[in-house]
Amino acid sequence: MNKNTNVQSTIDKIDKIHVNASSPYDIFIGKGILKNSGTIVRKLNKGENAVIITDDNVDKLYSQVVLDSLKDAGYKVSKFVFPHGEPSKSHKVLMPIYEFLAEHSVTRSDVLIGLGGGITGDMTGFAAASYLRGLDFVQIPTTLLAQVDSSVGGKTGIDIAAGKNLVGAFKQPIAVICDINTLSTLSQEIFADGMAEVIKHGMIRSEKLFDMVFKGDFDEKILDVVKQNILIKARVVENDEKEKGERMQLNFGHTLGHAIERYYNYTSITHGQAVAIGMSIFTNLAERQGLCEKGLHEKLCKCLENNKLPIKTNINIEELYEFSLKDKKRLSNGINIILCTNVGKCITKNLTINEYKKFLQI
Ligand code: GLY
Repeated sequence: MNKNTNVQSTIDKIDKIHVNASSPYDIFIGKGILKNSGTIVRKLNKGENAVIITDDNVDKLYSQVVLDSLKDAGYKVSKFVFPHGEPSKSHKVLMPIYEFLAEHSVTRSDVLIGLGGGITGDMTGFAAASYLRGLDFVQIPTTLLAQVDSSVGGKTGIDIAAGKNLVGAFKQPIAVICDINTLSTLSQEIFADGMAEVIKHGMIRSEKLFDMVFKGDFDEKILDVVKQNILIKARVVENDEKEKGERMQLNFGHTLGHAIERYYNYTSITHGQAVAIGMSIFTNLAERQGLCEKGLHEKLCKCLENNKLPIKTNINIEELYEFSLKDKKRLSNGINIILCTNVGKCITKNLTINEYKKFLQI
């Protein structure tokens, strides 16, 4: 067997989900597949340089295996490491990334590798969308949240003082490499952070997924859980890549979730915890107003609690209302809210500000 046949057969053995976006790509999913990164990337990109972008936590755990694999695939590999945490997702790190790429003579034929969670993936994607007006990039998500949500669908960006993700671009990766084994090093809190998006996907699209994770004891089935989430997200993105309609439904729980995060100034609460509370409050309000099946709120809350997520907040609804009006996804004359009518089914409601206030029972 020659080397090319070998490469093809290695890639063929890894499970894939195809994303038929404007620029189509495959999401490779499996256990222990970081070591195949070089083979996968080389098949799709013929450049000379591969630049790994990662944070200091992930660097210690997973850079070496990816770096060796890229080197074996014939790349000149360099690595940019930044301090972990949300404050890094800004121009303060992005500008040095651009300078680093220039110092390493990175060209449009080369490839950037975002290795880490959502912050790394979003920022690497945006660097790839903007440096030299665009070059290839690969997502290697290592958190549950990044694997089931942020690495799929091409949203990239950074935060500015006025808010999170306010500067960005839609830029699809050339591949996503999702190694489930990386989830074993996550803390319980960071794992739960991703579970909020998993439960959200179950609520808006799949009773089967919701039931699978309901009790929070699905360790054995984690590969299947991640795959089902990716499939749900991929199909939504294929139908509405630029978020003009269907993709907005991925915002279930996020209208109040973002408001809660903003209230706490993005400290002391994770995105997933805030989204969990957002889903719970909206479902409670929907049930009280006869907009969903009876018992849905209790069912959702049990699922969230079983997965170590909160269901309520002490912030009063008037304050949440004010903060939610600052959301970047709000319309100039109203707001779109997403409600689940039952597990697996959701609707979008286009409300005026007065109707929104009435829904919140203010
Ligand atoms: N995280 C929501 C989206 O990608 O649209």
